[in-house]
Amino acid sequence: MKYKTLISTFFTSLLLLPSMVYAQQSDKIVIAHRGASGYLPEHTIAAKAMAYAMGADYLEQDVVMTKDDRLVVLHDHYLDHVSDVQEKFPTRMRDDGRYYVIDFTLEEIRTLEIVERYDIIDGKKTAVFPKRFPLGKSRFKIHTFSEEIELIQGLNKSTGHNIGIYPEVKSPEFHRQQGKDLSLSVLKVLKKYGYISKQDKVYFQTFDIEELKRVHDILLPELSMNIKLIQLLDIEDYYDQIITKDGLSALGKYADGIGPYMKMIASNDKDGLHITDLVKNAHAAGLDVHPYTFRQDQIEGNYEEVLDLFLYQIGVDGVFTDFTDRTVNFIKNKK
Ligand code: G3P
Ligand code: CA
Repeated sequence: MKYKTLISTFFTSLLLLPSMVYAQQSDKIVIAHRGASGYLPEHTIAAKAMAYAMGADYLEQDVVMTKDDRLVVLHDHYLDHVSDVQEKFPTRMRDDGRYYVIDFTLEEIRTLEIVERYDIIDGKKTAVFPKRFPLGKSRFKIHTFSEEIELIQGLNKSTGHNIGIYPEVKSPEFHRQQGKDLSLSVLKVLKKYGYISKQDKVYFQTFDIEELKRVHDILLPELSMNIKLIQLLDIEDYYDQIITKDGLSALGKYADGIGPYMKMIASNDKDGLHITDLVKNAHAAGLDVHPYTFRQDQIEGNYEEVLDLFLYQIGVDGVFTDFTDRTVNFIKNKK
């Protein structure tokens, strides 16, 4: 997913917003996007522990599979941009210039150092988010999906809280082409750790429309499971039909919610702030709405005003955020 920004005029337009819109619920959930990724390298155990301590309701896991069929928590199905794979395994690059997780065993992957996300600019590693954790400091590792669940369930026991998990299967079609059934493997791990029904604190998410349907129609019944399902959405032709009123109505028959890119809900155009009918139509179809990604350091304007717009004026049910602390505090103060 590309990193996208909201433009500043978006926020000045908030001043013109009439009292509105379709707020339905008072319970809002905070989903720690890749952990406390505003403060520590994404998807590290440290980032997850910090997000837990900050009061997230759910911690997000992006999940991919290794050569030896182990599930690891990583945003991409390749290792570029967050590790030192280029230095440790210089000969393992594919022709497209990428280092694929699926080409490495878990043992090999565990030798990598994880760092804050970077791009290569003029041959130099350059932080994507310059104000975040410095590149190349301290020591972070990739961990398995099971290890992260055990961290969260361990903290649930030791703190007495009940924080949920929010796994996303990354590129299931790519994994299938490589002979691996990512969704089935993730669901089996969920079942092993007791996430079985809609009462359990788990949301299963994917951008792949056909895969979510397959999970609902085939995999969950086969495994005697019935967990909450989230269809992720982006601004792409692929999603044009599903975001219509009829499309959402059909989706509402098997999914529990949608996770849209935030600009699909509200964005700025030449006439000012534009709010779509997506939330209204999703709620009418019985779907919760959890947009992504709320980043304090990417928003030009007041972060809390943006949260207020989405959570309390438009009425989304939760948000993915890199800044759990700011978001939890905002919701607490609002109450
Ligand atoms: O899964 C919700 C949100 O995380 C989607 O964006 O690209 O960060 O996985 P991405
Ligand atoms: Ca994700």
